[in-house]
Amino acid sequence: MTKDELAKRLEHQSLRQLHRLAKDRVSRHIRMGKTRLIQSLLQLPPEMYIQISHEMQALHSQPKPAAKRLSTAKPQTPSARTPRRSPETSTSSPSDPLTTMGELLDGIGVPAPASFVPDAWQEEAIAYLTSSDVIVSVPTGSGKTYVALEAIRRAIENERTVIYTSPLKALSNTKLTEFSHIFGADQVGILTGDRKDNPHAPVLIMTTEILRNLLYDATSGEIDVRLDTLGLVIMDESQYLADPERGVVWEETIIFCPTQARLLLLSASIGNPEEIAAWMTSIRSTPCQLISHRNRSVPLRGGYLHPNGKLTPLFKTKEIAQGKGYAFHPETKRLFAQYESETLGGRYRR
Ligand SMILES: Nc1ncnc2c1ncn2[C@@H]1O[C@H](COP(=O)(O)OP(=O)(O)OP(=O)(O)O)[C@@H](O)[C@H]1O
Ligand SMILES: [Mg+2]
Repeated sequence: MTKDELAKRLEHQSLRQLHRLAKDRVSRHIRMGKTRLIQSLLQLPPEMYIQISHEMQALHSQPKPAAKRLSTAKPQTPSARTPRRSPETSTSSPSDPLTTMGELLDGIGVPAPASFVPDAWQEEAIAYLTSSDVIVSVPTGSGKTYVALEAIRRAIENERTVIYTSPLKALSNTKLTEFSHIFGADQVGILTGDRKDNPHAPVLIMTTEILRNLLYDATSGEIDVRLDTLGLVIMDESQYLADPERGVVWEETIIFCPTQARLLLLSASIGNPEEIAAWMTSIRSTPCQLISHRNRSVPLRGGYLHPNGKLTPLFKTKEIAQGKGYAFHPETKRLFAQYESETLGGRYRR
């Protein structure tokens, strides 16, 4: 098969089929649009053309996979999974009404002041922490911080120390400012590769790597006195358990965490929290309770900003539906194709 023949056949494939053909052949293909995908496939060695052509035939004879399968597949190992949902798994029908810019922006702004009432799941998580480790796996913007703050407040009241870990130095710095405002600057310290401030404060913020190293030192006999009084370890953004390179740090931190300390794992995106909770229960002396729901208190909206300044809704619907696939807004598709041809058109030769 010649390059031109393959190019013609690829041109007739849907974006989803092109991605499946590019899987394991083209790095970072998931970020590419149709034009770049075809371009990348054509750059593969010619001996692969026949194989690709056979796969194309096979793809056409296969029934379309059900959208649900992507999010319900069972993991092979107990390591954390990041749930993935592809725009190509849309379940919206072509007749669904399209959202407009007015609808997309409607309701965005500062809400009217109201008194703070904790949600039932927040109270439940805090209550469980008195006797269990807890994993909070709820959507972004749900209020995980409140659970962390309340747990810290109670630990301080009980004269226990707290370690709060985050995967990023920048997030650690932000938390230092936030917690210092709430608990007082003398109550909060930070330990990262770049910074060491107030290291004997009852609430200590650090990157997960620093805590893991601290726990290594403790197991080798150099016991840091603060580990004896440690009452609570909060691991924010704990979906890093699934990170191919850094995940082991989270895993070891959980394994080496002193038994008297409660562990609180926070994440919006652990794909298999039940398994992680079962694993923690099996390796630690305290059971691990899971608090999990998928209700978005802050609806997630998506817009596409073309470099020419034009903003369009990213998806056909105003909000990104939970547990459903989603489809790109046709205007976004058009603008994206325009962007591709403007930026790549001149260079794309077959
Ligand atoms: N029970 C509640 N009622 C109303 N607003 C709340 C409640 N709990 C938290 N909030 C508010 O919701 C917003 C988002 O909370 P927060 O930053 O804790 O989310 P999060 O779950 O940590 O999100 P992320 O996954 O992005 O880290 C904050 O402004 C917070 O004050
Ligand atoms: Mg948060």
